[in-house]
Amino acid sequence: MLRVLVCVSGGGTNLQALIDSMESGAVKGAKIIRVISNNRNAYALERAAKHGIASECISPKDYDSREEFNRAFLQSVDQAEPDLIVLAGFLVVIPPEMIAKYRNRIINIHPSLIPSFCGTGCYGLKVHEKALERGVKVTGATVHYVDEGTDTGPIILQKAVEILPDDTPQTLQRRVMEQAEWVLLPRAVELIAEGRVGVEDGRAVIR
Ligand code: GRF
Repeated sequence: MLRVLVCVSGGGTNLQALIDSMESGAVKGAKIIRVISNNRNAYALERAAKHGIASECISPKDYDSREEFNRAFLQSVDQAEPDLIVLAGFLVVIPPEMIAKYRNRIINIHPSLIPSFCGTGCYGLKVHEKALERGVKVTGATVHYVDEGTDTGPIILQKAVEILPDDTPQTLQRRVMEQAEWVLLPRAVELIAEGRVGVEDGRAVIR
């Protein structure tokens, strides 16, 4: 059984998609062993509680320095003994030591077709605002491994979503979630649980 740790900051709809996919049996061979949030008020924590999943809040605000927070965060992650760490709307920079220790075992979901509309400062609604500003006709979502850069790691899965003429950042965000994110993230976890995702020459390959 693949032991999955999910890190969240907000609403947790991607966490919910993962929970649902496991409870329905659509995703077999993986289970969520713990949820970590940096935000005490994240609704994602309630979602975890409703499904009997252990959770905890570790916030940088509770530590004197970033180093102390990073240490506490990594310690908590280590204690959970995860096989896979899923960043599902986690708005905290992952400490470099953690990236090195869990190389190709941390995945992130980003609401655009990387390398478009990604990188430092490009998260949440801003991603969709930029896509609409640029006038692209298609956007989507990407699941990728996390490396030292921002949204630069090996791409595992992508799914395109059409942009409609009347879209607002909000309507587009919703469609990208429904049509791409909530489908891709469980699928990526399933593929990893099946041992079908490898990384060769910096690129993810699905066997
Ligand atoms: C999603 O759009 C995800 O792609 C991004 O943050 C958002 C999180 O939403 N990384 P939720 O908390 O899963 O509802």
